[in-house]
Amino acid sequence: MTVHTTLLSFKNKTILAPMVRVGTLPMRLLALDYGADIVYCEELIDLKMLQCKRTVNEVLGTVDFVAPNGRVVFRTCEREKDCVVFQMGTADAGRALAVAKLVENDVAAVDVNMGCPKEYSTKGGMGAALLSSPDKIESILTTLVNGISKPVTCKIRILPSKEETISLVKRIERTGVAAIAVHGRKKDERPQHPVHCDVIKEISAAVSIPVMANGGSHDFIKEYADIETFQQATAASSVMVARAAMWNPSVFRKEGPCPLKDVMQEYIRYAVRYDNHYTNTKYCLCQMLREQLENAQGKKLHGAQSMQEICEAFGMSSFYQEASALLEAKRVSLEAKDQEEDEEDADVIKMAVRFDKRDYPPQITPKMCLLEWCRKEKHLQPVYETIERPQDRLFCSVVTVAGKKYRSTLWEKSKKLAEQASAIACLRTLGLPEGKWEREADHLVNKRKRQDSECLNNGEFGNDLVAEAAGKTLRFLAGASDASVP
Ligand SMILES: Cc1cc2nc3c(=O)[nH]c(=O)nc-3n(C[C@H](O)[C@H](O)[C@H](O)COP(=O)(O)O)c2cc1C
Repeated sequence: MTVHTTLLSFKNKTILAPMVRVGTLPMRLLALDYGADIVYCEELIDLKMLQCKRTVNEVLGTVDFVAPNGRVVFRTCEREKDCVVFQMGTADAGRALAVAKLVENDVAAVDVNMGCPKEYSTKGGMGAALLSSPDKIESILTTLVNGISKPVTCKIRILPSKEETISLVKRIERTGVAAIAVHGRKKDERPQHPVHCDVIKEISAAVSIPVMANGGSHDFIKEYADIETFQQATAASSVMVARAAMWNPSVFRKEGPCPLKDVMQEYIRYAVRYDNHYTNTKYCLCQMLREQLENAQGKKLHGAQSMQEICEAFGMSSFYQEASALLEAKRVSLEAKDQEEDEEDADVIKMAVRFDKRDYPPQITPKMCLLEWCRKEKHLQPVYETIERPQDRLFCSVVTVAGKKYRSTLWEKSKKLAEQASAIACLRTLGLPEGKWEREADHLVNKRKRQDSECLNNGEFGNDLVAEAAGKTLRFLAGASDASVP
């Protein structure tokens, strides 16, 4: 049974709903500032996430999941670590688990989107398409619950009838999810259709896990007090807010919302501070400006083609200059530190080598060869020191032999591989055999094999002789590797 380490509670919480393009880091942090307890990221598709590499961005102080084209697909930071829920779009349990494992240590919980009615999602069997495949839902959620140490949630829409909906949520509850978000509309209902509070209420009564009521922005929620009204109307444990928060993230503020002008400025501060892309920043600001898009500021925002121009439109040019200068200074100082470390590393002999097991006979490794050579030459045993690079969790090992240090410049996926690579760097520098298959040996082995099989085909061996021939081949392989150890 998996032990869930950080148990995020979904009871009595106000929650920023997942929203494509809106739910990036600046919006999530702003919602937290104004009082949201939990923030969901925008839905991210499993296949896209699986191409990403986790890196620590030391300049911004963030953890980034970066696509091969350099685009940041998911950015998060320490501040939200215990309250951010990672939402994925998936239709496959194996892929879902792989993504969950990739992000597990950087988020508070993992969610599966089962409510998106858009074709791009349903076409791949994801989003609301899952609602008609309860077996698949069960398999994805069970796999996640058993496979990761963080809570798992899912977000659904209601089904055509109350009975079907209740039966589905009960089945979902049995998978062990920590909570369920219910958007109180059917798959084909649009956001302006009234939300079915009565169905959410029945769901709340039918299950014992927390229910997060969602869908109240249009009819109910303008300010914090309305969140409470919506919670009462649905008898839900918590309320998840999407559009009302997109229009004004200070909707979570208990004392009432702040003027939009101030909210937008705060949003821009986070967008600059966390290097949010200007197109995304512009999109979110347009959602907040809404009816005012036609005024002078709206027109300026519309025409902005960079973060600097967005800041100009909001009278924040000097903030932009200062914030970008700070980030640039941090970048420069980190580069200088890297260079210093490289110089400190100057006494280490380096070369770009990797260990590939296929190049060696069974049981033979460069480390063994190096150890044997040290013993023969009466040197101390090789000493390996390995470090793990936090941004990508790759390893590099330095081996000390006869007072000199050696390493490979290539970083490896494991400590073992990194040690072998450093041993190769040392052996190669000292001109010593590395224990690899010799071409000639390969040739001889193959020749021997051919001869053996010819004999077999000609029926020249009895069974005992076949065994002996096989033994000889094995001994020969061992001999070949022994021969290469000095
Ligand atoms: C711009 C936008 C993007 C959305 N993206 C997502 C998403 O990524 N994942 C999701 O589960 N729902 C998404 N939704 C749906 C909302 O999370 C929410 O279910 C819906 O808007 C109803 O809640 P509301 O009445 O509070 O707006 C999105 C909604 C909007 C308006």
